[in-house]
Amino acid sequence: MKTLEEPMIKKETPTDYEIHPLIKQRWSPRAFSENPISEKELKQLFEAGRWAASSNNFQPWRIIYGIKGTDVYNRIFKCLDEFNQGWNKTTQVLLLGAFKKTNKKGKENFHALHDLGQFMANLSIQAQSMGIAIHQMAGVDFKMAIKEFEFPEDYHVATAVAIGYYGGDIETLPEDLQEKELQKERKRKPQEEFIFNGNFKE
Ligand SMILES: Cc1cc2nc3c(=O)[nH]c(=O)nc-3n(C[C@H](O)[C@H](O)[C@H](O)COP(=O)(O)O)c2cc1C
Repeated sequence: MKTLEEPMIKKETPTDYEIHPLIKQRWSPRAFSENPISEKELKQLFEAGRWAASSNNFQPWRIIYGIKGTDVYNRIFKCLDEFNQGWNKTTQVLLLGAFKKTNKKGKENFHALHDLGQFMANLSIQAQSMGIAIHQMAGVDFKMAIKEFEFPEDYHVATAVAIGYYGGDIETLPEDLQEKELQKERKRKPQEEFIFNGNFKE
């Protein structure tokens, strides 16, 4: 069994330019340490999200959270798809990330999903600074989540998020995912493919 005493899995992040270690060292594990996350630590993570920028400072994000062993956690878990349920065995906290679809005038807020992303990015970097990892998930039955947590009509549940300390026992994972967890190299497209100092290029 791989335990906390063993060194954490270290990933290789071959950056082309120097970036902050908090960004460089972040990755999304599927096995988390048995160390719990306290309410205070969670509030710190949410506070980092709270101070994210948003269009018109509208702050359209809404978060449901549940701590392992509680009813809310189990209700969020139930909303995950089969694949994600398969690996969320050691997750200490589960979140649902939702956003309000409309602005104050009742018109569609096209930037709401962007802003929820900013909230999560802030949260993930704050988490990294505390040695805490997050794993975001699109694989969530959003219709079930909306019903389960009684969201009003103009809200959408976009993601679920698994949270826990780095350093989990990878043997808790299905075999194919154990291999992925141990994979050293992280990959990204080169900047030239998506950054243009001029017209868009295919
Ligand atoms: C919006 C979003 C949805 C994701 N959905 C899932 C998911 O449903 N299941 C999963 O195992 N990983 C999911 N991921 C994790 C990504 O696969 C992961 O972030 C990506 O492979 C890059 O790896 P890294 O975060 O370790 O750098 C998701 C990530 C994001 C940001």
